[in-house]
Amino acid sequence: MSELVMPNDTNPQNNLMGGNMLRWMDIACAICAGKHCAKPVVTASVDNVAFGSPIRNGEVVTLEATVTRAFNTSLEVYVQATAATMQGMNPRRTHHAYFTFVALDKDNGSPVPVPEVVPLSEIEEQRFEAALRRRELRLVLAGRMKPANAANLKELFG
Ligand SMILES: CC(C)(COP(=O)(O)OP(=O)(O)OC[C@H]1O[C@@H](n2cnc3c(N)ncnc32)[C@H](O)[C@@H]1OP(=O)(O)O)[C@@H](O)C(=O)NCCC(=O)NCCS
Repeated sequence: MSELVMPNDTNPQNNLMGGNMLRWMDIACAICAGKHCAKPVVTASVDNVAFGSPIRNGEVVTLEATVTRAFNTSLEVYVQATAATMQGMNPRRTHHAYFTFVALDKDNGSPVPVPEVVPLSEIEEQRFEAALRRRELRLVLAGRMKPANAANLKELFG
């Protein structure tokens, strides 16, 4: 998904506002998650957001979202933003983040199981494996998992 940064999207420094980037990321990830699940999805959380470098008014932002791992009723989506001029000059990676979505039953709105993800490439394998640790960390920080139950995090930190 691509967006052209317009004056109304920018801050007083003439750069894209972070909130607008998050909005575009949310949309790109929701499309990705919705396609994977073929169900309505809602954003449950956002983490590891990195605002790497500013994007100027008039530049083109391209967002690429991929499902890294499906859990039970939730799934994690990685989104990477790149920016370049309208003429394709100065292309660079600028922002990235992880979004968690929950699939909902279209009739009663309650969470429903999501289809699994099969990683194919090396980078997909790496993100798939690390997704368990990110999930535990976000659930612990959200107060939804006891640290004692975060087995993958314990493995990492000893
Ligand atoms: C997301 C939501 C559906 C979860 O509902 P809930 O009653 O907590 O449901 P559950 O306890 O069954 O959890 C459902 C899933 O959400 C995940 N989840 C809930 N809160 C989370 C959080 N802060 N971070 C990551 N995952 C979370 C749970 O881990 C679970 O996933 P799993 O089944 O894969 O383990 C509910 O909180 C909600 O509707 N939030 C508002 C969503 C919204 O308005 N988003 C913005 C507009 S799209």
